[in-house]
Amino acid sequence: MNRKYRKTVIAGNWKMNKTPSETKEFMTAFKAILPKGRWCDVALCVPAVCIPTAVRAMRETRVGIGAENMNANASGAYTGEISADMLTDAGCKYVIIGHSERREMYGETDADVNAKVLTALNAGLTPIMCCGETLEQREAGVTMEHIAMQIKMGLRGVSEDKIRKVVIAYEPIWAIGTGRTATPEQAQEVCEGIRAVVRKLYSSKNARAISVLYGGSMNEKNAYELLAQPDIDGGLIGGASLVPEKFVKIIEAANQPTE
Ligand code: 13P
Repeated sequence: MNRKYRKTVIAGNWKMNKTPSETKEFMTAFKAILPKGRWCDVALCVPAVCIPTAVRAMRETRVGIGAENMNANASGAYTGEISADMLTDAGCKYVIIGHSERREMYGETDADVNAKVLTALNAGLTPIMCCGETLEQREAGVTMEHIAMQIKMGLRGVSEDKIRKVVIAYEPIWAIGTGRTATPEQAQEVCEGIRAVVRKLYSSKNARAISVLYGGSMNEKNAYELLAQPDIDGGLIGGASLVPEKFVKIIEAANQPTE
């Protein structure tokens, strides 16, 4: 982390877990133990039907609610889809875009991700744009090429004045839900590489200001060490964000000294 130049963001991704009733229970317990300090931004990205409950519960707190996906189009005949306006009107501040599960299971391409990032920014949502390599790509030594391609494609057309509103999440696919976390060094190397890509595309100032998160089996035990890395500005947390005590411990790990 480097709190001098950029925001630290701890974001949960509930995926397809918890009903609205369970959301209410979680929020009550979470609110009761939420740390008081203001050292990082906290986001919880929840299933669409849980958004109203989550927004209502977190209204007077600093926790922003987000969605896990959205459609790039403004409105129309897209049965089952949700637009950016619907999300903002429901009180969302964030939206996860291009999670590897959506890319792998629902065929989302870099072009889809790009269209969604642009739509989210126009609507005033903070896109949490995900990237990450497979184990095969890592073993073949093409991790950074792959990530650079995802970043360049995902950010196409994002203007100089909007780039700082984008949050990038590095999530190695082999580390998601596997309990196999990237080492702090591995995660740092790629997050630093992502910042270098942003530097090339934009400027040093913008690269320094953008928040790059790590995701993939981040938990209350390994968060401190991961967040101690200079280019890891937070986390995108799956499993551990479903348990208030664990998620709070990760938020607390963001309250460590930085340069
Ligand atoms: P886990 O923390 O469960 O590995 O999930 C990571 C993730 O995919 C967050 O988006």
